[in-house]
Formats: sequence, C-alpha cells, structure tokens
Amino acid sequence: MSHPIAVFVSGTGRHLENFVRLAQQGALDTQVVLVLCDRHGAGAIERARKFGLRPLTLLPSEYEDTAAFSRAAFEAAQEAGAQTVLLAGFLRLLHIPTSWTNRVLNIHPSLLPAFGGKGYYGSRVHKAVLERGCTLSGCTVHYVDQEYDHGRILVQRTVPVRASDTPDDLAARVFDEELVAFPEALRLHMDSRSADTATERGGA
Ligand code: GRF
Repeated sequence: MSHPIAVFVSGTGRHLENFVRLAQQGALDTQVVLVLCDRHGAGAIERARKFGLRPLTLLPSEYEDTAAFSRAAFEAAQEAGAQTVLLAGFLRLLHIPTSWTNRVLNIHPSLLPAFGGKGYYGSRVHKAVLERGCTLSGCTVHYVDQEYDHGRILVQRTVPVRASDTPDDLAARVFDEELVAFPEALRLHMDSRSADTATERGGA
C-alpha cells in the first residue's frame, strides 16, 4: 500500500505539486491524503484543486493558541489516515504531539543549522547568505521537533553561491535542489519506517 502523507502548506504549493506528480508517475510510493493550509488565498489551494485534492484550510486565528491549532492540525492528519506529515512551505511553528515524533518532515532553504530559526524564511534566508559572503548554500530536510528548523537532519544538498547572485537567483538554484532533496528524504524516512516495522514483526 502507498504511504499516506499529509502535506501542510502556506505558500504556492510547488513541493505539493512535485509530490503529487512523482506519486502519479510511480516514482514515489506515496499518496497525498490531506492538504492542510493555514491561510486563505494561498496559491497552494488552487494548485491542490487542480490535482483533484480538496484542501482543508485551518486558520490559527480561530484557535486559542499554538497548542490548540497544532492539535486540530494533527487530528485532521490522523483522521485522513496520514502516517507522515510534510511541512512543505508551511511557515507556522507547530507543537508536535508525542505520537507524531519522527513522523513530521520539514524543508528549509539553507544548510542548517546555518540561517535557520525564527525569522529565517523565504528570501530573508538567501539575502542573509549573500550578505554573509557564503560561497555555498543549499537546502535541508529534517525531522521537526518543538523548535524552529532544529530536528535531526535527513538530507542536505548544496549549491554554489555566485558573486553576481541576487536573492532570487540563489532561491531558484536552491529550489531546484529542494525538488530532489524532499522526495529523497521521504524515501529514506519510508524505508526506515518499513525496517522498524519488520524488526517489530520479527521480534514479536
Ligand atoms: C521553499 O523554499 C521551502 O524551502 C520553504 O518554502 C518554499 C516552498 O514553498 N520552506 P512552496 O512549495 O512553493 O509553497
């Protein structure tokens, strides 16, 4: 059976599209069972509909606090039957329920732990990399814990930084690698979960 994933989005949904296409092509043994968006009007909503998905919008302002919003988000993932949650351009800090430990993956457009944490998102990351004079940048896929951009790293891919780069140039070069890194990380994650299940069966 394909591995059921929930994709949480706030932005344009390019990663969401990549996952849907790879699944359709049989290049990734997954199925998107939930798209959850935290704001009205995000490009990801239209993009999801284009693929016949019906995104769920949950607005943080309608919840008492981050903990209540997180509970609702993970309940929705659970109800949809997701085994893994992907934060694909999802900008909000979540409280990860214990039952979801090592089952939530995030992609970040820098080589963590550099240029990560609160305030480092979108073009701010690339601007900071250029200002610092880095000659290398890249992207990181990691497990999500209770801190921004902090959990154990699954995959990193690097790109050169050129002297003439604008933040947009660098973002585009990094994004090309993100499209490879995120599916690669999900594959590693799925493989490790199947290995865990096999060990549990063997040990029983
Ligand atoms: C990517 O740069 C990713 O690293 C960041 O959000 C961007 C993707 O957004 N976390 P989207 O998939 O186009 O919505």
